[in-house]
Parts: sequence; structure tokens; C-alpha cells
Amino acid sequence: MKPHIRFDTGEMALHLLDQRLLPTECSDFVCHSMDDVIRALKDMVVRGAPAIGVTAAWGCVLAADKTARETAGDWRAVLDDMLVRLAAARPTAVNLRWAVERMRGVWEAAAPDDCEALTGLFLREADAMQKEDVEICRAIGHHGATLLYDGDTVLTHCNAGALATAGYGTALGVIRGAVDAGKRIAVIADETRPFLQGARLTAWELAQDNIPVTVACDNACALLMQKGLVDCVVVGADRIASNGDTANKIGTHGVAILARHFDIPFYVAAPISTIDTRIADGTAIPIEKRPDEEVRTVGGRDLVPEGVPVYNFAFDVTPAQLISGIVTEKGVLREPYDASIARALRERTA
Ligand code: MRU
Repeated sequence: MKPHIRFDTGEMALHLLDQRLLPTECSDFVCHSMDDVIRALKDMVVRGAPAIGVTAAWGCVLAADKTARETAGDWRAVLDDMLVRLAAARPTAVNLRWAVERMRGVWEAAAPDDCEALTGLFLREADAMQKEDVEICRAIGHHGATLLYDGDTVLTHCNAGALATAGYGTALGVIRGAVDAGKRIAVIADETRPFLQGARLTAWELAQDNIPVTVACDNACALLMQKGLVDCVVVGADRIASNGDTANKIGTHGVAILARHFDIPFYVAAPISTIDTRIADGTAIPIEKRPDEEVRTVGGRDLVPEGVPVYNFAFDVTPAQLISGIVTEKGVLREPYDASIARALRERTA
């Protein structure tokens, strides 16, 4: 798959493959400003925690560029306000805040006198982050491949693939890693109501790679497990608390409960940047509520009688005790997660 996040320095614009249109149409949504990037994040033109982080880094570049061109006075205050707005575009995926903070770190370290110089520094950093993310996913794939056996069928929820990262994927990175290691792996993609990331995106990118994939309704999970059709579950993450509690797409917690019931291993695959050490456990993870329309309608057609309210929580939190392992670029972390997470973070800093 060619890069779905592409920054054009000539036109100073960010090209994003518009994931709302997949699998029937491949066209780009072009961001010329940070406000375009915020719109792309909020409307889920691009989604998935690591992809959100990389996109936000490019959003910082566009913010600095506009500030350099248009602000005669206190450019630092103007840019600071813009970055605060960008970091708030979506609340659950911690990679968004992480990416903006990393760019702020570059700003603080260099302390340039003018915003044009900062734009250049931001450009280099965003490019580095995008390249790093692919390498991190490949490392996740390398470590995760050891958890899968030749002939396994892996169930995944939502899309934690190339489209949800800068490339290769986290959960799908584990699957790609196993396939690259010569194992025959088949995938069951939960359709993932209401945005249908599993049916539209996971199935699309695996089919492109010729990895066998079957789409199942979310509510088929128990039956599929009971029938012995699932050997392992691998999902991504939007935020992992210090104790291992993991926020991921709504429905993930239910899959984890079923996996425990049927004695099926349940793995989370995510970069270390998805771990939020500022929070002790999952109760502190903010859960995004998205527009009712996503639940009320399918393909523009109303499903729910007028006046009947709906729930549209976009994420849930799987308690650490239901997770068999967390696959990171530093290896597979095991219980007790507070200790293994602290060790992985120390290693990364070293
Ligand atoms: O609302 P989304 O599509 O951004 O949610 C995405 C997920 O929940 C993914 O599983 C998660 O971000 C991991 S992406 C590698």
C-alpha cells in the first residue's frame, strides 16, 4: 500500500487518503491549513491512534507556516493557541497529545527567534515521526509474529493496520509480521459498527496484501469462538494506562470477555507512545462521544425512529487482567503490567 499520509513541501499541503470513502473510492483530502487538519481528524478522514499522531505533527507544520506568513506581532502566543486547539481535536487517542507535545519539545529546545525557522524544524521532526512510526510498527510485527502459529485464524476489531498508522500497522502489523515469517494466517475482521472500520478498512488493506480475510458482524463473535473458528485475538489501542488497562474501539472489551470465556489469547498491539503514564488506570481515560448520526443512519438512510435517542461512545476500556500480552516495539509486555510497562519506558529512555 502506498503512503496514505503524504506531505507536499512544494505546495505546503498534507494529502490524506480519505478513509471515509473506502473501499469504493480512493481519493485524497488535501489539507492546506491546520484547520483543515482538525476537520480531517474530527470527521475521521484519517483515524487510528498512531496515524492521528503523525497527522497532528504535520498539522503543527501547517500551523507554524501560517503563523510565520500572517502574524506580525506575538507569533509565539498565536502558535501556542493553535497547537492547543489541534491537540484537542479528538480526546481518546493519546498519540495526538503526544505528537503535539513532541513538536513543542522541538520548539522549546531550539527556541528560534522567528517562526519561519521553527517551520523548518517542525518539517524535519514531522518527517522523522512519520518514518519512525513505520519502523516501530515493523518492530511490533517482528515481536508479535512469535505469538502466532502457522495455520492460525486471528480475530481483530476495528482497523489497526497500515491505514491507522504511517504504514504496516500494529495489530495488522503482528499479522503481517507472521505472514512475512512464512506462517499461513487467516483473519476475521469484526465489521465494527458504526463507522465500519473492520468491514471497510481492515478487509480492504488485507485483501490488497492477499492475506485471507472474512468479515463478520460484531455480534457473531461468541458463535465464532464457540465453533472453534478463532485461535487468537489481536487488537490495537488508543490509550494504555500505567496498569495496562486499554482503551480501544467500542466493542473491544466485549471481545476480550468472550476470549477469556473461551480460553483464547487476547493481545493488544501498540507503540510505547500509546501508553499514558500520567494516568494510573483506565477509569481516567476520556471516552469520546461521536455524533448520533453515525449510529442513526447507514449510507444516508435512517435506521432509528425519529425521537429515539442513541448511544455513540467511540471507545471502551478493557481491564488489564483480560489482556494476555501487550505487543510493543520493545517486545511483548506481560502481567504485572505496571512493572513491565515501567521497564519498557525506562529502556526507551535509555
Ligand atoms: O475511531 P478510530 O477509528 O480512530 O479508532 C481506532 C481504533 O480504535 C484503533 O483500533 C486504534 O486506534 C489502534 S490504531 C493502530
